Amino acid sequence: MRLNRSEIDLFNKVSANILSNPEYLKLKNFRHHGKISIYDHCIAVALNALASSRSHPSVNKESLIKAALLHDFFLYDWHVIGQRKRLHGFRHPYIALENARKQFEVTPEEENIILHHMWPLCIIPPKKISGWIVIYCDKIVCLQEIFHYYGQIVEI
Ligand SMILES: [Fe+2]
Ligand SMILES: [Fe+2]
Repeated sequence: MRLNRSEIDLFNKVSANILSNPEYLKLKNFRHHGKISIYDHCIAVALNALASSRSHPSVNKESLIKAALLHDFFLYDWHVIGQRKRLHGFRHPYIALENARKQFEVTPEEENIILHHMWPLCIIPPKKISGWIVIYCDKIVCLQEIFHYYGQIVEI
């Protein structure tokens, strides 16, 4: 799904201070799915979420972009034993939110999106449609990243 001009402008406006934040930039150093960094993964989820929100005019798009960018703002490589936190799948939304609060203003809606993005693992679903959009896009992007990675391995 391609973004139109006004969506690109909105994304650039909302993401500017996040994508230039020195702590956030550290996400470039941590591998997520396949060879994709957490930084690139979060941008992909945010862009897909923005495109997916077209059919939901009531969604607060600024909060959607912010929360999608911050949903995996944990600063460690979960593949490395010694860095990975116990119960990473359950705990990383809380760690991401804690890191997000230290660097940025986070609204209750954005908090809710970040904390519940691992549904159904976290059992309690998000409160708003924006939360469901991030859950959906996170899983789609994750699958694309994993299949791309294993596709490359098979080609070799
Ligand atoms: Fe996550
Ligand atoms: Fe994610």
